[in-house]
Amino acid sequence: MSRAPVSSGDRAIGTVAIRWHGGSLELLDQRLLPDQEHWITLEGSAGVAQSIRNMVVRGAPAIGISAAYGVALAARHAGGGDWKAEIKQAIRELAASRPTAVNLFWALQKMEQVFSECHSLEEAVKRLSETAVQIHKDDLSANLAMADYALAHMDASKPFSVLTHCNTGALATGGYGTALGVIRRLHEKKLLKDVFADETRPWLQGSRLTAWELARDGIPVTLNADGAAASILAAGHVRWVIVGADRITANGDVANKIGTYSLAVLARHHKVGFMVVAPSSTVDMALASGKDIPIEEREGEELRQVRGVQIAPAGVKAFNPVFDVTPASLIDVIVTEKGVVSTPNLTGMSGLFS
Ligand code: MRU
Repeated sequence: MSRAPVSSGDRAIGTVAIRWHGGSLELLDQRLLPDQEHWITLEGSAGVAQSIRNMVVRGAPAIGISAAYGVALAARHAGGGDWKAEIKQAIRELAASRPTAVNLFWALQKMEQVFSECHSLEEAVKRLSETAVQIHKDDLSANLAMADYALAHMDASKPFSVLTHCNTGALATGGYGTALGVIRRLHEKKLLKDVFADETRPWLQGSRLTAWELARDGIPVTLNADGAAASILAAGHVRWVIVGADRITANGDVANKIGTYSLAVLARHHKVGFMVVAPSSTVDMALASGKDIPIEEREGEELRQVRGVQIAPAGVKAFNPVFDVTPASLIDVIVTEKGVVSTPNLTGMSGLFS
């Protein structure tokens, strides 16, 4: 596992999960963490689409970045005949990999725009690779900027604890993290007491990835079952619930990992701040509200089994939506690299994302 390649000034950035080598893309297989650190090498866009679908790589920004590299790979390996048709087909396949995180479609749209301006395959190879690298770099910069905005908004002087859900760290992004980036920055500024990490059933992004990533970077973490969040908030242990997002609509509704909505209800009930941290690539102003967001449902096997071990009657009916929508009215603040939207609504969102 590589720890060093990404750096930004004097800031520690944490784990790296996506490596680009020009002719190939390497992804840290997140299905095998925390016990195995295994990298998968991909040389074609079909493998990238499959890796997004199978969750080798996951997390909204990381999906977008990987898809962009997938398009660059498609150009590199285009036959030379109808190379335009081959790249278009690759874009279609990548777009069909997962439906909810809009960062995927945002990145593919950027790549498609650049592609449409290319007059030769040679030009496409060069410009699509450069664009993918830029998307990757911009995501890291956005995360660093969001951490600045979030801390200014929190205006804290003494250490406090937070609770987070899913994994929004370096593993899920171009580096540093969104919600976990804010948490990293609190730690850097000695303002962090502890991080309660929801284990995040059923895929366990919290226990397998967040707990691993934080522990690895020496950031305090306490793992809790999702159902324990209510008691943790009721006991007054945390000041902020901080989460990421997969899509934010024009009115400020937020799709994020299943269980986020219940946390927002809990936070409001217990008068705990609820912060959403996401780059502008997660904002979808074309959708009026969260009702319009396509919510991915994955196979019931994810609920019935954990890594091949049966934990429910084989074949029992299961309902497995992997995202939910938190209404804007339950969110105190949305932090992006363009600035913050407090008590989000259409006016506030339009002010920042016209
Ligand atoms: O199914 P996943 O693991 O891709 O879901 C990830 C999340 O829901 C994250 O909270 C979100 O993508 C933000 S990641 C910075």
